[in-house]
Amino acid sequence: MENRVKQIEKQALAALGNAENSEQVKALSVKYIGRKGLVTLFLRNISKLPAEQRPEAGKQANIIKKRLETAFQKAIDQFALNQQDNADDFIDVSLPGRPAPMGSLHPITKINRRICDIFSRMGFDIVEGPEVETDYYNFEALNIPKNHPARDMQDTFYVSDNIVLRTHTSPMQVRIMEQYQPPIRIVAPGKVYRCDSDLTHTPMFNQVEGLLVDEHISFGDLKGILEVFVHQIFDEHISLRFRPSFFPFTEPSAEVDILCVMCRGKGCKVCSQTGWLEVLGCGMVHPAVFENAGYDTSKYSGFAFGMGVERIAMLKYGINDIRLYFESDLRFLRQF
Ligand code: DAH
Repeated sequence: MENRVKQIEKQALAALGNAENSEQVKALSVKYIGRKGLVTLFLRNISKLPAEQRPEAGKQANIIKKRLETAFQKAIDQFALNQQDNADDFIDVSLPGRPAPMGSLHPITKINRRICDIFSRMGFDIVEGPEVETDYYNFEALNIPKNHPARDMQDTFYVSDNIVLRTHTSPMQVRIMEQYQPPIRIVAPGKVYRCDSDLTHTPMFNQVEGLLVDEHISFGDLKGILEVFVHQIFDEHISLRFRPSFFPFTEPSAEVDILCVMCRGKGCKVCSQTGWLEVLGCGMVHPAVFENAGYDTSKYSGFAFGMGVERIAMLKYGINDIRLYFESDLRFLRQF
């Protein structure tokens, strides 16, 4: 009879050795030491043994029951532990990666960089200057004296009597000429401010100024450089024209137009029926500006130009409301 309970234990431990998970171990526990388990039944039937065998058999069976209990519990704990380890360490290398959201450059930044890139390939240096500017650099030195009607062309934000938010990047012409002697070849990108707001104007916008000064510089040089520029920023075959204009700091002055990108010259709403779109202002540096910068006007000549970056971006991308560039609407920005 004692052998019988030892046999049961052997059987139970062998089965436990083959168990693959805690469910199987629990089933074995029920089978061997549950209320109707084999060891339990053995204990119940001890009363049927001859009286002298009962104490020893009972003792044995109880020891075995305890041992099995411990073995089953240990196995269950071990399975639980393994499972936890697996859950923590498991990396499914076949899962697709979680992409980090990618930003992109603002369309104005892109065009700005493209403009500077085109000029820097033609030997221009890129310079920057202050957005809060003195009246002198913004107006006076550029041949726009106080009370001059040309001041009305620009709706100025005044910080104080003599300090303004620069209304254009042209003050950089004088700042650079004061610092360096010719030859000069610079472009100056930057923010400018005007008290103006509608479909095509915002109180802050970006300009790029250009200045080239050397001996024997002619209007032909200006035309050549700007033609290369317009062809590179728009497209190789676009028609352009130089139309006489006025700026106080250049003489003669001109504006560059491109053939209307919408109607190709036929006349439409976008070009106000003219067939042409204004792209930038330019001209030969006025002698008064050279004098203000301390340059010898008998020796040097040069040209300057200035353009609005938003305007160029609008023409290039066919956008009719400048404010779209400043609303941070991702649906709009993602298109570029
Ligand atoms: N500063 C002018 C403006 O903001 C643009 C401009 C015109 C710049 C002619 C120039 C130039 O350098 O030569 O309207």
